Parts: sequence; C-alpha cells; structure tokens
Amino acid sequence: MKYTAKSPQATTALGTALAQVLEPGDVISLEGDLGAGKTQFVKGIGIGFGIDPDQITSPTFTLINQYEGKFPIYHFDVYRIEPQELEDLGYEEYFYGSGICLVEWGNIVRDYLPEEYLQIMINKTADDQREFTFTAFGERYQRLISELKVVVRA
Ligand SMILES: Nc1ncnc2c1ncn2[C@@H]1O[C@H](COP(=O)(O)OP(=O)(O)OP(=O)(O)O)[C@@H](O)[C@H]1O
Ligand SMILES: [Mg+2]
Repeated sequence: MKYTAKSPQATTALGTALAQVLEPGDVISLEGDLGAGKTQFVKGIGIGFGIDPDQITSPTFTLINQYEGKFPIYHFDVYRIEPQELEDLGYEEYFYGSGICLVEWGNIVRDYLPEEYLQIMINKTADDQREFTFTAFGERYQRLISELKVVVRA
C-alpha cells in the first residue's frame, strides 16, 4: 500500500490512523533516511494512544523509549546500535512481547526482527512531501494493511 503525506501534519494523521488498527504484539520497522519523518509518524501513533507527542523523541542515544498508552509502546532507534547492544538489551522480550514495537531504522537490525512484521518505508519526494510504502511480512500484517485502508479512506 502506498500513501502520500503532503505535510508533517498529514504524516502525523496517518500515524494516528494506524494506531486504530494496531494490536499488542505488533512490530513495525520504520525505514527511511535521516529526516524522512519516522519520529513524526511515531508521534501520530502516540496521539492515537493518548500519549503526549512532546514526550516522543528519537531515542537515538537511549536506544529505546517506553510510553504507556492503551498498551506499552516501545520506541527504538537503532541507527547507532551494535548487534551486541541489542543482545544486551534483551531485544526478544520486546520483539516477542505483548507491547507494540516501533523500530526506527529497523532495516539495520532486520536479522533480529521477528519473521512477521510490518515494514513502512518513507521517502522524501519534495520538501514537505513524503511517500509511504507499507509492506506486510506475514498474514497478520496483510490484515492490518487491509484494515488501515478502510481507516484512511473513511
Ligand atoms: N510530509 C512530512 N512528513 C513528515 N515530516 C515532514 C514532512 N514534511 C516536512 N517534514 C519535516 O521533516 C522532519 C522529519 O523529522 P523526523 O525527526 O521525523 O525524521 P526521522 O526520520 O525520525 O529522522 P532520524 O533518522 O534522524 O530519527 C521534520 O522536521 C518535519 O517537520
Ligand atoms: Mg527519528
């Protein structure tokens, strides 16, 4: 599924729409260059779960932020991570747990992600415009994308 967001607000709104169809245990890999809008999108998801978006920042140095919404939300930024650090963090507890994992730069740790996850690629197509490509790995995420289509077209 593709979606074009023509402003940061449109990206936030897309994140909020996605939050409506997320379930505990979901894992999302957010992929795209520096400044693509990964964190902006996570803020939108947070809003959907009643989290103050000002609390949400890229955990570039802390690796992981945790927010308490309807479900626990684990927000990773693995841009600078070494595989050993991921092991030390006990990543399995998160990736195979019952919270929702949002992983900025998930492509870097692809080998550690569960077999099934939702990939969201964000490409900058103009200064204020971003193209989103949603790809499902596994049946759960095919269903999620179908549900999201209904939400964004509603
Ligand atoms: N349509 C858009 N969607 C999202 N962000 C946009 C859009 N247009 C402009 N921007 C701007 O792009 C920037 C996106 O920054 P953001 O921190 O979300 O990127 P990021 O992908 O998380 O980067 P990093 O890899 O450094 O963590 C913000 O300054 C935002 O205002
Ligand atoms: Mg970020």
